[in-house]
Amino acid sequence: MERTLLSLLLVVAIVSPAHAFRNHYRQHGRHAFTSSAIDDMIPKPLSTTNSIRGSPMPGEYVVTDYGAVGDNSTDNTAAFAKALAAANDTAGGIVFVPPGSYRFTGQLVIPTAVTLQGSFTTVPSHDAKAGHYPVDGTVLIPLADRNNEAGKPFITVGRDSTLAGVVIWHVEQGRFEPPVPYPFAVALVDENAAVKDVEILNSWNGISAVAAHRHYIARIQGQPINIGVYIDETYDIGRIEDVHFNPWWSSDVNFMYWQTTFGRSFVMGRSDWEYVFNTFSFAYAIGYHFVETSTGSMNGNFLGIGTDYACNASVQVDASQLAGLLITNGEFTAFHNTLEQHPQRLDLIAFDACDNTQVVVGKDNTGPVNFVDCSFWGPANHIARLAGNGVTTFNSCEFNGWDYLNTNQSAIYASGGTLIVQGTNFNENKPQVELEATVDKVIFLGNVGVGSENIINHGVKQVQSGFNAFD
Ligand SMILES: *[C@@H]1O[C@H](CO)[C@@H](O)[C@H](O)[C@H]1NC(C)=O
Ligand SMILES: *[C@@H]1O[C@H](CO)[C@@H](O)[C@H](O)[C@H]1NC(C)=O
Ligand SMILES: *[C@@H]1O[C@H](CO)[C@@H](O)[C@H](O)[C@H]1NC(C)=O
Ligand SMILES: *[C@@H]1O[C@H](CO)[C@@H](O)[C@H](O)[C@H]1NC(C)=O
Repeated sequence: MERTLLSLLLVVAIVSPAHAFRNHYRQHGRHAFTSSAIDDMIPKPLSTTNSIRGSPMPGEYVVTDYGAVGDNSTDNTAAFAKALAAANDTAGGIVFVPPGSYRFTGQLVIPTAVTLQGSFTTVPSHDAKAGHYPVDGTVLIPLADRNNEAGKPFITVGRDSTLAGVVIWHVEQGRFEPPVPYPFAVALVDENAAVKDVEILNSWNGISAVAAHRHYIARIQGQPINIGVYIDETYDIGRIEDVHFNPWWSSDVNFMYWQTTFGRSFVMGRSDWEYVFNTFSFAYAIGYHFVETSTGSMNGNFLGIGTDYACNASVQVDASQLAGLLITNGEFTAFHNTLEQHPQRLDLIAFDACDNTQVVVGKDNTGPVNFVDCSFWGPANHIARLAGNGVTTFNSCEFNGWDYLNTNQSAIYASGGTLIVQGTNFNENKPQVELEATVDKVIFLGNVGVGSENIINHGVKQVQSGFNAFD
């Protein structure tokens, strides 16, 4: 019994990648972990099996074997390129980056079928505001193209390639002044390109996926400042899941002014059937921005998405495809973001001009926009401001905290398109809907709320309303 267990453990120890990484860490990681507390958390090798293998597994390349030094000062651009090329020259493989702080004056390209793998197997977060900087694990520090947003992305991920398990830290980005532009931290540029378990602590622009059909973006955290995730030119199902953007780097007023006035956490251009699951962002001008690019717009499935402290709009739809945007179980908080109204949030900005409407559907939109089982809470002006000629649906939703300025604004204001509202709770004693005569059709069915039913209609003929229960 004991012997069986022991040999099982030996087998696990020999084949487990974690064991392999530890092994490399022991050989190459002298610049790595300085914190003994973290050191103690690393599982110790089982008995003497560690000495069985002294070199990387086949298909595994370690950057320190190619001259990389994680000492927080050496330029590692050339050494990483060599390690990546070595994997590329064979049949692909895993290029492992032991814990350490690696600086780069240039960019990296991950070739086909290669994974650039750091020490994290799930995404960390570092609360710089609390003095918690990334000084442990694998930290990549890009230095190029400060003030040049149009420069090459720091890491380009090619076909069937992956970036995984690293922190990307722009050490030269300040915390107490307006943020400085840099190029995208990560660009997925070909089929099946993937980025997972990566912290983009303070990237100006985070991750782009353009012409990266079936891209996979998973388990990402950090505070990208200008754009978090950008999608375009995707003709086969792209996947985004478990993405969490929070102001861990800075909530300084000068810094946040920029982020909450111009920053957008998700910018969605052309994609055919994007799948987006479990994503969240805090304190941007726009949470989810659906745009028209030269290649078109998006249709897709959005499940469990959210955004808090969105200052212009939680969801803004300039354009969508015929099959539409299907948004289910969303949680959205737009903020009227003024200093007088939020003296307690001095840390988070003084800006009086933003519109803070939860859902904005623009005049050029033609596709359907469906919200099912979504909760909206303010302080916001409108829950929705709808134009264009598509159909917008709210089904089983919760509306709270609109008309923050107390001027009797309606929850939904529509100047175009068709509106369907069903089974929704209007939790303010304020008008529910205001319709300009340019609206096409409206169904308002089976809703409840406090106050009286109040649909302000400026001349829409086709309005069907019934089975509603108000006070
Ligand atoms: C990878 O190898 C291919 C040839 O097999 C070559 O065309 C390509 O440029 C290489 N990529 C990199 C980044 O070295
Ligand atoms: C690396 O340098 C930055 C400053 O440029 C510093 O804040 C950080 O603590 C350094 N990392 C380590 C591991 O010492
Ligand atoms: C947010 O609204 C402000 C004020 O109208 C505007 O200046 C800014 O460009 C908007 N931001 C975005 C991302 O549209
Ligand atoms: C809002 O509507 C209520 C009830 O109809 C009315 O008493 C109040 O004067 C209105 N307030 C404004 C600012 O129009």
